[in-house]
Amino acid sequence: MKSTIKRIGLITSGGDCPGLNALIRTVVQSAAQKNIDVIGLPHGIPGLIQDHPQALALDASYASAQMIQRGGSRLGGFIRKIYAPLDALTEQEIAERVVSSLKVLGIDGLIATGGDGSFAIISGILQHTDVPFVGIPKTIDNDVPGTVYALGFQSAVSNAADALMKVADTAETHQRIIVVETMGREAGFLPLHAGLAAGADAILLPEIPYDANDFITHIRTIYAAQKYAVVVVSESAKLPAGEVSSINTPDGQARFGGSGEKFAHYIHACTGINTRHCVLGHIQRGGAPNAFDSVLAASFGTQAVKSLCVHQKNVFVSWNGYSVDVKDFTSITGQIKRVLPTTLELRAANSLGIYCGTTIESTAQER
Ligand code: F6P
Repeated sequence: MKSTIKRIGLITSGGDCPGLNALIRTVVQSAAQKNIDVIGLPHGIPGLIQDHPQALALDASYASAQMIQRGGSRLGGFIRKIYAPLDALTEQEIAERVVSSLKVLGIDGLIATGGDGSFAIISGILQHTDVPFVGIPKTIDNDVPGTVYALGFQSAVSNAADALMKVADTAETHQRIIVVETMGREAGFLPLHAGLAAGADAILLPEIPYDANDFITHIRTIYAAQKYAVVVVSESAKLPAGEVSSINTPDGQARFGGSGEKFAHYIHACTGINTRHCVLGHIQRGGAPNAFDSVLAASFGTQAVKSLCVHQKNVFVSWNGYSVDVKDFTSITGQIKRVLPTTLELRAANSLGIYCGTTIESTAQER
């Protein structure tokens, strides 16, 4: 069947991550080869509910190879000021506004990158339009189900692992324990992969319970042997008393945060060892994509355009470990992926003597 798509709308929703500009480039180039126009829709769905939504005609000359190296997104992401009116609208009203904007702009196919939050909003909109949609999972948290890796995750792991190795240098020099807090929201993929990549001494994740005495015993043992230690804690790892640490941003938004500092105080109180903490924060989200994400952006973008051309509707692209699959979008909406106790990287960390809490492996070793 011949493709009927003439004009694709492209959105990068939610929080940014490395690889978004590489993806924009791919979509534009790959559509241009098929004589399809691409309209960039700044600031995601909230941008589309404005009275006069911005629309940027993206031609092949815009999509140069230099774009690959730039972090962030040229199409912008979540901006609170633009998002605020969404709170006052019903799901139906949001959908109607978006559908009307797509019509005014002549868009007959939509591609959007997103994580769980953006995909939940988009899935509501899809019930009110026939415009076919292809989702591209992106998030440094890697918590989108149905794909082994989301775009940006591996680059964030590289950023965090690089920081952990730097922290280890100074920790060793000063004979300190340094606790490093990573992002990742309620999923522990980022701290787990970064800690494993950098050879951390302990990694605490939101999903895996731990015994506070075992954790401290491990830190003491490692410190006695090495005279320093690097401990990675997820921003949402449970504190020893069982609660999850949170902070308020200067503009009053509640966020995970503060676990690094609290664990550092706890470790110092229990061991008396000189301890510092360090919060990696948004550094994890910025910068150029690594080679893996650059290739993933090229593969996801190419497949997304192809899917629209072959009339695949309301699907998302996913990485299965070997290649890109195309799956039903409704199969993942409203869900988040978490680190399972059987996760290979968790077992690998265990076999390397990295304390990750009460895992299946550590329990088996005790038996
Ligand atoms: O979802 C991506 C993420 O970076 C999380 O890891 C983190 O908890 C959150 O966004 C931070 O949000 P903000 O950029 O609004 O501070």
